[in-house]
Amino acid sequence: MNGAGSMESIMAVKKAYTDNRRVTVKVPASTANLGPGFDSLGMALSMYAWIEMSASQTGETVFRLHGDGMDGLPTDKSNLLYKVAQLVFDEAGVSMPELTIEMYSEIPLARGLGSSATAIIAALVAANALIGSPLDDLKLFELATKLEGHPDNVGASLFGGIIVAAWDGETVQHARIEPPARLETLVAIPAFELATEKARHALPSGLAMADAVFNVGCSSLLVAALASGELGLIRHAMKDRLHQPYRAPLIPGMTEILERATDFGALGAALSGAGPTMIAFVDAESESGSKAELESFLQETLRKEGIQAETLWLAPCVSGPVVTVESADADHDGETFLERIKGERA
Ligand code: HSE
Repeated sequence: MNGAGSMESIMAVKKAYTDNRRVTVKVPASTANLGPGFDSLGMALSMYAWIEMSASQTGETVFRLHGDGMDGLPTDKSNLLYKVAQLVFDEAGVSMPELTIEMYSEIPLARGLGSSATAIIAALVAANALIGSPLDDLKLFELATKLEGHPDNVGASLFGGIIVAAWDGETVQHARIEPPARLETLVAIPAFELATEKARHALPSGLAMADAVFNVGCSSLLVAALASGELGLIRHAMKDRLHQPYRAPLIPGMTEILERATDFGALGAALSGAGPTMIAFVDAESESGSKAELESFLQETLRKEGIQAETLWLAPCVSGPVVTVESADADHDGETFLERIKGERA
């Protein structure tokens, strides 16, 4: 065997992209950690991002990004959506055409509602659907976890509902829990951004054994409470000594919200992901406390610290991405992407 021949035999020959699809994917936002389940628990929320992907008609990759904060994102091949799509094409052994990528997101950036995880899942699912879905959800989950560095947000956006996941840096395992039907959430989204990287830098490199044991107990109890629907346990379970205390200086008002939200009828409260959004879990059928009182408690507590926040009631989202595949030539009377998804946007 000569050298060139052996090279040929080990080089993967990519299939040309010949399909002519336009794929639209709607993906839910997420809240991670749920208090004690740092990097391992996530829940999808009813707030969404949409992506549309097709092979470019002009021979050049084109981005059209819509929504708050999208202006500052790159619109060349350094864009995360493009890089993620490239990963799928490479993984599937298909040569990537130039793409048209449009995205609209109602998920605020860098607020702890999983906007980057949602974007990763949107691009993975769209690129996969564009080439006939050769990769299964478990493969997409593994790719997403590697990209994001933890499985909590991406798992929730990919599978919907509540995700319990374990990641060892190589492989990821998960179980999905159907959110209890009475569970509702209230989020308070501060006007300021907090980069996940900064919030992770606030964490210590080591932890006291007693604190680790405390979190194992709370996180396990929370999973059991959510799986069994024993909502009364949540107030005892939604406690954390692993990340929230260290992040508290970055989110003034957070400690008071965590300590007192149950006085205003919440089942429990947590920092949503790396923050700065705060999330309260509520029993939609409970008679104790009024929703308006809880909302103004969150607003007022943050306002006292000089922080403006938007409050929103969000139901858990029970489904993962919703995918629509059609011919790229479908015109729908000249409708634009934003017009196509208009009926679904909040
Ligand atoms: N589990 C992650 C964290 C979520 O708390 O840092 C944010 O991406």
